[in-house]
Amino acid sequence: MAEQKSLSRGPGPGGPGRHGYRKPKDLRGTLSKLMRYLGRYKALLGLVVVLLVVSSACTVGGSYLIKPLINDYILPGDFSGLARMLAFMAAVYVTGAVCSYSYARIMVHVSQNAVAKIRTDLFDRMQSLPLKFFDTHTHGELMSRYTNDIDTISEALNNSFASLISCSLNFVGTIAMMLVLSPVLTLITFGALAVMLVVVKVIGGRSRRYFAAQQAALGTVNGYIEEMIEGQKVIKVFNHEAAAKADFRERNEAYRQAATRAQAYGGAMMPAMGNLSYINYAITCCVGGILAIRSGDLGGLAAFLQYTRQVSQPITQISQQVNVILSAVAGAERVFEVMEAQPEIDEGSVRLVRVTEDHTGNLTEAAYDTGAWAWKRPDGTLTPLRGDVRFDHVVFGYDERKIVLHDISLFAKPGQKIAFVGSTGAGKTTITSLINRFYEIQSGTITYDGIDVRDIEKASLRRSLGVVLQDTHLFTGTVADNIRYGRLDATDEEVEAAARLAGADTFIRHLPHGYQTILSGDGGNLSQGERQLLNIARAACANPPVLILDEATSSIDTRTEKLIEKGMDRLMAGRTVFVIAHRLSTVRNAKAIMVLEQGRIIERGDHDDLIDQHGRYYQLYTGQAELA
Ligand SMILES: Nc1ncnc2c1ncn2[C@@H]1O[C@H](COP(=O)(O)OP(=O)(O)OP(=O)(O)O)[C@@H](O)[C@H]1O
Ligand SMILES: [Mg+2]
Repeated sequence: MAEQKSLSRGPGPGGPGRHGYRKPKDLRGTLSKLMRYLGRYKALLGLVVVLLVVSSACTVGGSYLIKPLINDYILPGDFSGLARMLAFMAAVYVTGAVCSYSYARIMVHVSQNAVAKIRTDLFDRMQSLPLKFFDTHTHGELMSRYTNDIDTISEALNNSFASLISCSLNFVGTIAMMLVLSPVLTLITFGALAVMLVVVKVIGGRSRRYFAAQQAALGTVNGYIEEMIEGQKVIKVFNHEAAAKADFRERNEAYRQAATRAQAYGGAMMPAMGNLSYINYAITCCVGGILAIRSGDLGGLAAFLQYTRQVSQPITQISQQVNVILSAVAGAERVFEVMEAQPEIDEGSVRLVRVTEDHTGNLTEAAYDTGAWAWKRPDGTLTPLRGDVRFDHVVFGYDERKIVLHDISLFAKPGQKIAFVGSTGAGKTTITSLINRFYEIQSGTITYDGIDVRDIEKASLRRSLGVVLQDTHLFTGTVADNIRYGRLDATDEEVEAAARLAGADTFIRHLPHGYQTILSGDGGNLSQGERQLLNIARAACANPPVLILDEATSSIDTRTEKLIEKGMDRLMAGRTVFVIAHRLSTVRNAKAIMVLEQGRIIERGDHDDLIDQHGRYYQLYTGQAELA
């Protein structure tokens, strides 16, 4: 059928539907994957099929009973027989109703379980995807998989599959009964059905095109609203309200036009089909009446007319359900696309374990918190965790074709502080995100305590590294919870100690509920400086041997800056530290300073060396060039 070629629904804002709607690329493959989620409910689904068949048999068979009812009881005047027959008919219809209610209930149970499992699998997989995946997919696009796509899947599983089967059974059953009752009259119905199919094809095809246009226009409107909500501050700062309003009017008007067309056509289908069905009914009445007068089979005519009224219903319903199912398959395809994306590679076999050390310096693995850690190789050898990080001829680009870091070699011995300076976009943040393997390097090696980071289990590697990100994220929850994000089993005392170390304690105590104050919307109710202090406290809470600090570029007042500086200093004490500094005060006491320019280390040495060199660092330091 023509309807199988398109869909009535597209994904919403941010989704690929913005540019029209998609059909499933691999209908069979995706359907079979979708069916796998129903696999656990084989017995229940078997029951559903039985109930469907019984319910259709009751619906179709019930109408047939009109024939004996009239011919055998009403016409001869056998009223006690009539009563029995009526009771039997009632029983048939009630059975049908009970069956359809039951299968609908079972389907809701099965489909909601399946959909919940799909959501869980999608979320689980998302957690294992590399950052690169998030770099290349917009948030809106990912969100729409959880919302629109899973919604359509849910709708289809709840109702459409069962409806489709039930409508098809009813249709075939009805036609069969009509043929049994009167092949001649059935020919008239076939004629009418042919006309109806043409109508479904023409109006339906057009209506789907308009509907797709409506969805696309809706996507545009939603996307615009989303952007404008996020950008409210910028809009106000630049006095863009009037322009925003005008832009919105335009998009809203386009949506109105598309929606009007789509709804007008969509609404035309039912009345058109209804009228055709009445015309069919009238013709069948006339011809059937003449035939009945000749044959005397009044009951047969009554039953046939009943079928004539029923026969066209499944056609519209089938075409609608097929649309829902196809859009669900397209949605499922997008969901499975994420589920099948390559997860982060983690072939590391070296793990971080807790150890105890005896007086001879021998390490033994411990099951409890000893405060000491070691790397455990697969053969069981233990190497103490020290915090020695080395880069050897590392080459990296976010995109293989565009190299961002060229031939980077450097080392940080345990307890040393290495600073990176350089202009914006030089690759400072990038270098640090390679240590904890956010991204895979193209060539060269990075070692941690002499072990290639690729051989270290990712979870262990990241536990041994503390990172204060340049742009942090605070989660909805209390201040304490946000600090505890650094180490989930930290006690309240440890959380407060971390906050004191970071210098965040004072401001937290001044919050309405202290450590229990709820932060919402990425800590929107805090200042930039306060967010950074929390960020430092979070790293302090994790208490890692190696620390990566990416100083935020945003400017803050000098008092907070001093506070942050002190917090950072306390946090850095006794650890191996990579610090990306935008303030020269932070770098001055570093063991080595790397000056980066366009992905290359162009100068290195300590502060005095670099000043003596009179190079780029000298320019930066003496204010002859802006420091990032
Ligand atoms: N996720 C990413 N995907 C693709 N390219 C990126 C990504 N992040 C950064 N880049 C590019 O890599 C280069 C280095 O960026 P990086 O963030 O390391 O600079 P930076 O030295 O930290 O700058 P800043 O001082 O502004 O923080 C830039 O050209 C940037 O456009
Ligand atoms: Mg940066």
